[in-house]
Amino acid sequence: MTPTTFTTARIRADFLEFFRNKGHTIVPSAPLVPGNDPTLLFTNSGMVQFKDVFLGAEKRSYVRAADVQRCLRAGGKHNDLDSVGYTARHHTFFEMLGNWSFGDYFKKEAITWAWELLTGVWKLPKERLLVTVYHTDDEAYAIWRDEVGLPEDRIIRIGDNKGAPYASDNFWQMADTGPCGPCTEIFYDHGPEIPGGPPGSPDEDGDRFIEIWNLVFMQFDRQPDGTLVPLPAPCVDTGMGLERLAAVLQHVHSNYEIDLFQALIRKAAELTGTTDLENKSLRVIADHIRASAFLIVDGVLPSNEGRGYVLRRIIRRALRHGWMLGVRQPFFHKLVDALIEQMGEAYPELPAARDMVVRALKAEEERFAETLDSGMRIFEEVAARAEGGVIPGADVFRLYDTYGFPVDLTADMARERGMSVDMAGFEAAMEHQREAARAAGKFANTTGLPAELVAQLTPTVFLGYERLDADNLRVVALLKDGVPVQAVDEGGQAVVILDRTPFYAESGGQVGDTGVLAASGVEFAVEDTQKFAGQFHGHIGRLVRGALKVGDLLAGSVDSARRAATVLNHSATHLLHGALRGLLGTHVAQKGSLVAPDRLRFDFSHFQPVADGELAEIERRVNAEVRANHPVVVQEMGMQEAIDAGAIALFGEKYGERVRVVKMGPSVELCGGTHVGRTGDIGLFKIVSESGVSAGVRRIEALTGQAALDHVAAEERRLQQAAGLLGGSPADLVEKIRQLAEKQKRLERELESLKAKAAAGATADLASSAVDVAGVKVLAARLESFDAKALREAVDRLKQQLGDVVVVLAGAKDGKAALVAGVNGSATGRVRAGELLAHGAGRIGGKGGGRPDLAQGGGEDGPALALALEEVPGWVRERLQ
Ligand code: ALA
Repeated sequence: MTPTTFTTARIRADFLEFFRNKGHTIVPSAPLVPGNDPTLLFTNSGMVQFKDVFLGAEKRSYVRAADVQRCLRAGGKHNDLDSVGYTARHHTFFEMLGNWSFGDYFKKEAITWAWELLTGVWKLPKERLLVTVYHTDDEAYAIWRDEVGLPEDRIIRIGDNKGAPYASDNFWQMADTGPCGPCTEIFYDHGPEIPGGPPGSPDEDGDRFIEIWNLVFMQFDRQPDGTLVPLPAPCVDTGMGLERLAAVLQHVHSNYEIDLFQALIRKAAELTGTTDLENKSLRVIADHIRASAFLIVDGVLPSNEGRGYVLRRIIRRALRHGWMLGVRQPFFHKLVDALIEQMGEAYPELPAARDMVVRALKAEEERFAETLDSGMRIFEEVAARAEGGVIPGADVFRLYDTYGFPVDLTADMARERGMSVDMAGFEAAMEHQREAARAAGKFANTTGLPAELVAQLTPTVFLGYERLDADNLRVVALLKDGVPVQAVDEGGQAVVILDRTPFYAESGGQVGDTGVLAASGVEFAVEDTQKFAGQFHGHIGRLVRGALKVGDLLAGSVDSARRAATVLNHSATHLLHGALRGLLGTHVAQKGSLVAPDRLRFDFSHFQPVADGELAEIERRVNAEVRANHPVVVQEMGMQEAIDAGAIALFGEKYGERVRVVKMGPSVELCGGTHVGRTGDIGLFKIVSESGVSAGVRRIEALTGQAALDHVAAEERRLQQAAGLLGGSPADLVEKIRQLAEKQKRLERELESLKAKAAAGATADLASSAVDVAGVKVLAARLESFDAKALREAVDRLKQQLGDVVVVLAGAKDGKAALVAGVNGSATGRVRAGELLAHGAGRIGGKGGGRPDLAQGGGEDGPALALALEEVPGWVRERLQ
């Protein structure tokens, strides 16, 4: 077998083909960003997309599935970022081959098929394979021994070796709660020449025995209290690392020696001018281009938080390795095409997003390039004077804050020199900066409340989902100039906090309500409602009449027209969000939103402008949902239940135990806002603009209901006015404008040729007014509204017509005069155009000059211009005598 026999492409294909023949449906890889789980940073194994199916919360049309899943273990709980490049087997990004049974086949088939594929199809030598089983799993043990025929000394029982019941290398669980079960793992023995012991032995971490395939028998749903509840039906979840398997099948010891990585490493070597293909930096770069490119494919862009920061760290780490190889120009993005060559066929979403990936990487390279050089220099200095092999926290912070060096990057560089970083010092510097920022922002934060007051109050009860009017609302606090007071007098600005209220306080983009709070003889005009200290609705406004004190009872009435208009925009925002994800892809994530009575604004991640055709389609889809007149169903439920229902949550947003789920047709979102009763209430949805906000973030503004109709009506009026001006109807407006434009072009052409003719005529007339000075024709004249160009042309024509000539022409316009002088024939050399012009221009307060035969300049248009022109023959005569 030569190393190329089992290419990674072939291994993927063999795997899927094998399980297709066993009745499995081939499922595409899910994105790296899990669609249904805001608690998980990245898809870190094949089963993530099937979690709900195991739990019985989701049904699919098949009970057997197989796939090749792209996975990422960087950041979050599973983090291999720091190990990449240092070991033969760790990657940020890797591919997992998996097959699943959802309540269909179980241990026997899973085990015998795995064996058949490994030894029958791929012909791995049986004597090189050994397995582990969970210590009480006699069933799996018996299958290995009796069905497969594996000798007992190569079936190893592994107990609870992780310090608790069911905490074992052979009891797999995807998280602290959720689907779990015993597993059996298949190991490959790379041979006695490699150090390392078999699984369960003290030196099992060596490189000799490598786990290649994990078969999990999912049987339980682990509860938060640790109890194991049986799943609706036992399932199978298997995972095999493609890169490790390829290394085995290609007879190499390191994953980086397999075909796919070698191709990337060769390209990286070419781009960085590196000859040593074993260079560790090339490995890091090859690993990181896969993670970076696929993260961008799946909608993540480099940023300073959450998933975006993990991506930024991966890219910057790769760039630093490029820098170490001597590269000073952007290079990383140039690996994308090589990656597409290796993986584009298996993942068509990669070539589809090529341009966006290249652009996003290049932008990040250019951004980091600004500070990388200086940062590296600073690091060298700091490392040279660091005491005790520790880089001080303040320096780590400076590199982070000023030079954009993520902490793990600095730690990585320190580690390369056998040094470490002072993390505690770094954290302290960070905290110091946060405090400074807090102090700076203290006075701007108008919605804070003193802690003593917060302690006395209970959170405001919001009545406004059901009604807009309510009475017996008790004043529990009053603020004047941000300070708690007991009473407020007439005419004063104040904030009223009530125990209950129908007024919506601004949140989730939806603006706060306005309206009136009143009691007999008291009227408080609510101009805005904001959440104070995160949980108290503060009614901001003016006491128009009467006096108000803590303890008073008020009736509240929300401006219902304004709220009604706002609500349309909020529901439309949900439909828009859904339509954008449906049309542009699930990388679209909400980045900001404003839901006001008069319009809505929605910011979202997308790397290029939304094309006009796409906007039209989005508008069409939203309006289709509007016309479908879906009821809007609002339910409170647990977070897990909401995720199971497919609710879109904003990543990084904190949600409580109980969440509010708003469902309308296909749209399901976590949302605390107020909404229409049925989508038909929105009436009409109209996009009015699409623009860019920042790199990778687009903005759509749109109107709904009456505002949308008004907008359409105003457009229509404009069309009618325009059509009226053209003497047609809006229907043939385009044709009329086209005709008009053509006519205009024709007329312009005609005008040009007429002008040329007129100018030729004017100069012919002029020629006759030339005077004779010592055998040379001299001509000086003023031509109305000739610009310098027209003057030059006239001078040229006169030279040709008159032969031996000295000519000065002036064109005047708006108080300014342009002058052009020309000399031709026998006068050449004796009279210099430049001098003549300088003289003339000097007379009219201007200047000019040029060659002996042609010069130009200008000055003021006034009485002096005529005098200057009159002087020309005399001036020439002096030169010619
Ligand atoms: N879910 C199992 C794993 O990731 C197969 O190892």
